[in-house]
Amino acid sequence: MAQLQFEGKDIAQAVIARMDECQDPRFKQIMSSLIKHAHAFVQDVDLKPEEWMTAIQFLTDCGKMCDEKRQEFILLSDTLGISMLVVALDQARGAAALKANPPKIAPTEATVLGPFYWEGAPELPLGADIRGDQAGEPCYYHGQVTDTAGQPIAGAILDVWSGDGEGFYDMQKGDGNTMALRARFRTDANGHYSYWSIKPAYYPVPDDGPVGSMLRRMGRHPNRPGHMHTMLQAAGHERLVTHIFVSDSPYIESDAVFGVRESLIADFKAHPAGQAPDGKVMDQPFHSARYDFRLVPSAKAA
Ligand code: BEZ
Ligand code: FE
Repeated sequence: MAQLQFEGKDIAQAVIARMDECQDPRFKQIMSSLIKHAHAFVQDVDLKPEEWMTAIQFLTDCGKMCDEKRQEFILLSDTLGISMLVVALDQARGAAALKANPPKIAPTEATVLGPFYWEGAPELPLGADIRGDQAGEPCYYHGQVTDTAGQPIAGAILDVWSGDGEGFYDMQKGDGNTMALRARFRTDANGHYSYWSIKPAYYPVPDDGPVGSMLRRMGRHPNRPGHMHTMLQAAGHERLVTHIFVSDSPYIESDAVFGVRESLIADFKAHPAGQAPDGKVMDQPFHSARYDFRLVPSAKAA
């Protein structure tokens, strides 16, 4: 007679066994591991019924907070460090695929995309100034895009976006429908790029919902250090989603979403008013940040 009753640790095994007919091996692997670890967690903390109901209410509140502009579950994944773990594993998988032909130069590290990417930013000529009337100290961004053998990549597209010098993204200001501090640039024949924007300030991740309450209850702050988001795409290379972090920003050592990589921290050099590296004459103090990006050949091309 089939077993009718399961106790304690056996329940997880019984749930997993019910997937015998599952036709999708990867789904079966993922669900088996999820069940195993979720049951171990419940055992580990000896979870009480009222605590489990609190967790279910929390997830319900996360769902209610979601719409086309707000994704509370991604924010939960970000603040628990899971988004960054998934990004890092994905990049490591790509590197492992190149094992037969290891790169000479380490590829630029990836980090989280975040909720403020907005497709369709205008393509502007190299050197353009995207500050508009946004708050913040001017900063000249420049560098080179190469492959991992050091060969310049001409025609690579850089999508750049950031909050302003007070920590607000365009989507969070006014009616939220007017783009600011975003653009696309195309590298020149030597792989160089340059543009003017502002030096981004630190800011809190959206913390007016259940994830914000969770952070406060955990005794955590919600802040991210200042960073310039950059997405790079070039024919024959893997797309790279990353940031340039501001070295002297508050919270550089305690990013709320664990996205900081030491290799992504750039020195934002302070300059007095006067001639900038591109020859422009600035009537106010400014910064400059140089960052070189290294892209890996696409797995399909290899
Ligand atoms: C951001 O960098 O824009 C961001 C990333 C993760 C969560 C919230 C914001
Ligand atoms: Fe950001």
